[in-house]
Amino acid sequence: MSAEKLDKSKTLFLRKKHVGPSCKIFFSQDPIKIVKAKGQYMYDENGQRYLDCINNVAHVGHCHPDVVQAGAEQMGTLNTNARFLHDNLVLYAQRLQATLPPALSVCYFVNSGSEANDLALRLARNFTGHDDIITLENAYHGHVSSLIDISPYKHHQLPDAELRPSVHVAPSPDVYRGRYRADHPDPAAAYADDVRELIDRAHEKGRKIAAFIAESLQSCGGQVVPPAGYFQQVAAHVRRAGGVVIADEVQVGFGRVGSHFWAFQLQGADFVPDIVTMGKPIGNGHPMSCVVTTAEVAQAFASSGMEYFNTFGGNPVSCAIGLAVLDVIGKEDLQGNAVRVGQHLSDLLEALKRKHPLIGDVRGRGLFIGVELVKDRLTLTPATAEAQEVIYKLKEEKILLSADGPHRNVLKFKPPMCFTPEDAELVAAKLDPVLTGTGPLLGLKFSTVESVAPPCRRSKPFANISIRLEMSSFVFEVALVEKPQTIETNQTFTLFD
Ligand SMILES: Cc1ncc(COP(=O)(O)O)c(C=O)c1O
Repeated sequence: MSAEKLDKSKTLFLRKKHVGPSCKIFFSQDPIKIVKAKGQYMYDENGQRYLDCINNVAHVGHCHPDVVQAGAEQMGTLNTNARFLHDNLVLYAQRLQATLPPALSVCYFVNSGSEANDLALRLARNFTGHDDIITLENAYHGHVSSLIDISPYKHHQLPDAELRPSVHVAPSPDVYRGRYRADHPDPAAAYADDVRELIDRAHEKGRKIAAFIAESLQSCGGQVVPPAGYFQQVAAHVRRAGGVVIADEVQVGFGRVGSHFWAFQLQGADFVPDIVTMGKPIGNGHPMSCVVTTAEVAQAFASSGMEYFNTFGGNPVSCAIGLAVLDVIGKEDLQGNAVRVGQHLSDLLEALKRKHPLIGDVRGRGLFIGVELVKDRLTLTPATAEAQEVIYKLKEEKILLSADGPHRNVLKFKPPMCFTPEDAELVAAKLDPVLTGTGPLLGLKFSTVESVAPPCRRSKPFANISIRLEMSSFVFEVALVEKPQTIETNQTFTLFD
């Protein structure tokens, strides 16, 4: 029986009418209506199955029966706020703490990644008595005002957005495209030195640093893996300035990186943040999140005298669900799966990189992998349109993938953690011909075009040709001809006649 309540066109109509237009939809040119999901698969209204490579929220698999049962049972028993004593809250806090270094021992339960990061900023400002925040280029930390301020990823969408004087943006520690690359003798120290200089400049202006906040691996910012040792050195500079370090694990936590439960642990046991924020995968789709910090930071927050109350944070249902998620991660060895399947997927993607010049870089850890598409491996010109084309073509193959990063040219793999080796092989097998079709088509081999064109009679150089590309229909429109001319894929055409 279909789980559809409305015809798809009606759903779309009502969505356009009643849902804020800034709430974007995947595949806006041909949206998918999903009516159910299980494990690593999603199903549309016609029962068509899609392999989900993007939903890191459905961490242990969509609608995992253990998680559903835990939530339903607790929902039928009691749900109330955290002002009453309840075992779920303390048992969950204890279980979560056991995954972290001992110093991170105090939890605050909230409801979304944004709430977690907003509270983290409050904790930091309260503890340090300072106001300023250092954030990374291309970072995204949430949708509330305090976080939009420190999310340069969002500022790209508003060209005239102005940074507040209390916000300082450090370079993204991206060793592929950033200012210090893999050939630099010590990119970790170089990027950390940039943070130190930023602090010095802030001090010269009389400002004081409350916190450095960063995702342990940048996600929206382009699946960036910081060089080892970066966070230790940044932490030293920030703490010397009287600030604290916040690790945003909203996307990358809970074993996704495979070798460690938390992505900040990739940097080594000698790096311990002062505050860690968690979200998305924590409740496998149930809205919940958490901030964990040290006893000192928590005590200072309490000493301010203001109660912290959160109506839904830490309610018995959320905690039952959180406990079930942790149980499933352990019971099904999903962290081990992330190591094995993540490595297999990376190997397959590396093999595709050797074959397809469009792939400039394959990077990541565990089941958090980025594939950066470039038009040219030397100039690293982002292959933005190509990335869009790839994800639309994969959608036709019933594979859900997205592209992100400041240039929207990084294919993001962050599937449910039950992803199998066969799923990895399927994605690679489908991606291969898509890349074959995409490289030459969108790369517009100018040398080939030139060779079929008669000698150019224009005085203007060839580079002035403007080309409009319609992604969905594979049509090129060449605008430097008298009448715009539409040509089909692979069709030989004459630019000037
Ligand atoms: C790294 C990171 N932090 C915080 C958030 C905000 O989480 P939420 O959307 O649950 O408020 C997001 C959301 O995408 C995120 O990617």
